[in-house]
Amino acid sequence: MQKLAIQGGSRLNGEVRISGAKNAALPILCASLLTGDPLQLGNVPDLNDVATMRKLLQQMGVAIVVEGGQVALSAAQIDKLEAPYDMVKTMRAAILVLGPLVARFGEARVSLPGGCAIGSRPVDLHIKGLQAMGAEIHIEHGYIHAQARRLKGARIFFDLVSVTGTENLMMAATLADGVTVLENAAREPEVVDLAHCLIAMGARIEGAGSDTITVTGVEKLHGASHRVMPDRIESGTFLVAAAAAGGNITLTDTRADILDNVLEKLQEAGATIQVSGSTINLQMNQRPRAVNVRTAPYPAFPTDMQAQFMAMNCIAEGSSMVVETIFENRFMHVQELRRLGAQIDVEGNTAVIRGCAQLEGAAIMATDLRASACLVIAGLVAQGETVIDRIYHLDRGYEHIEAKLSALGAQIRRIK
Ligand code: UD1
Repeated sequence: MQKLAIQGGSRLNGEVRISGAKNAALPILCASLLTGDPLQLGNVPDLNDVATMRKLLQQMGVAIVVEGGQVALSAAQIDKLEAPYDMVKTMRAAILVLGPLVARFGEARVSLPGGCAIGSRPVDLHIKGLQAMGAEIHIEHGYIHAQARRLKGARIFFDLVSVTGTENLMMAATLADGVTVLENAAREPEVVDLAHCLIAMGARIEGAGSDTITVTGVEKLHGASHRVMPDRIESGTFLVAAAAAGGNITLTDTRADILDNVLEKLQEAGATIQVSGSTINLQMNQRPRAVNVRTAPYPAFPTDMQAQFMAMNCIAEGSSMVVETIFENRFMHVQELRRLGAQIDVEGNTAVIRGCAQLEGAAIMATDLRASACLVIAGLVAQGETVIDRIYHLDRGYEHIEAKLSALGAQIRRIK
């Protein structure tokens, strides 16, 4: 199993290009299932989750050509309407094939995701939504089996804001008969990026980015080309890394307008931030000040940035509180941070962190994607060497992270 070895203590300086967003690329790849025409995508990140999604689509019959960040997909010939357990269990986002398959082919068999490291994460909202659109759904042998001659437009209210739930139903609704209104929909920028791609494919969608999305179904979608938006979580992760380690970094090919909350928190921690077009510069010349964080659906503070801020808070001046309201059990990084000497108490969904002047390098283990990013940041600021095991989690969602950090001056290497 591969590991990362980090020698802590280097400041981060220089420029880093931000990759395309994983959480936009995954649903957009699935959107290819909605048409028999080619879909041409740009800025697709080179990530394990993206490779898993490509493999899943290829197993179904989608023809895919990859040239760097350019991915051409053609779902002209689909012969298997199924997402098997071994794929869904490694990547929950595989559930995103459900809506498109039922909408275009009238049938789908998708494995239930089962448990995962950051909580039970059910998919009941996806299922209820499709049922409201007239799909017949049976759960059999651990699979969701959905059938519908043609989905019908419906009014669907989400009890909880769900990102992939919104995306799945928005895709399904593009080919439904009539108008679908998604209420209490997720407002995440990745939902908007997917909507832009679907609109380019001929879908009629209004309100993406607000909590009410209206989709007027059409008979057919057609081919299109679309450039995947920048990854706001990768952007945030590099910014927090530089805020924790100190330095002066510039992110290119990113977007500040979708990072409001994160940038505000970094300024509160003492960083100077300058935005110009698609670049963000962060300078940090002091020990960070502790900042409180409470996760909530967009536009509030993202749960996918919670762990990274906790790493910074561990070495910050003062005490802070991190409250996780989206996922149960998303504090798996706490035990690992404690191995580095961090002082953290957890009570339910709240972690109280007492900043200490120094962490100490140790052997630690990644437990999930964003927890891994948190441990990398902790390793960058810890004294001596930190070795992080199970970094396959990191490779699911961060493109060439050690190369990017090395270019900024971090002492980091992969042990194969
Ligand atoms: C997406 C992101 C993930 C991010 C999360 C929250 C992708 C591929 N992944 O995950 O990186 O951390 O949004 O911003 O975009 N829920 C239910 N029933 C459902 C669906 C969700 O109870 O049918 C609950 C979940 O357990 C969780 C909450 O709703 O507590 C939000 O989950 P959701 O927004 O659906 O997360 P994902 O879309 O899986």
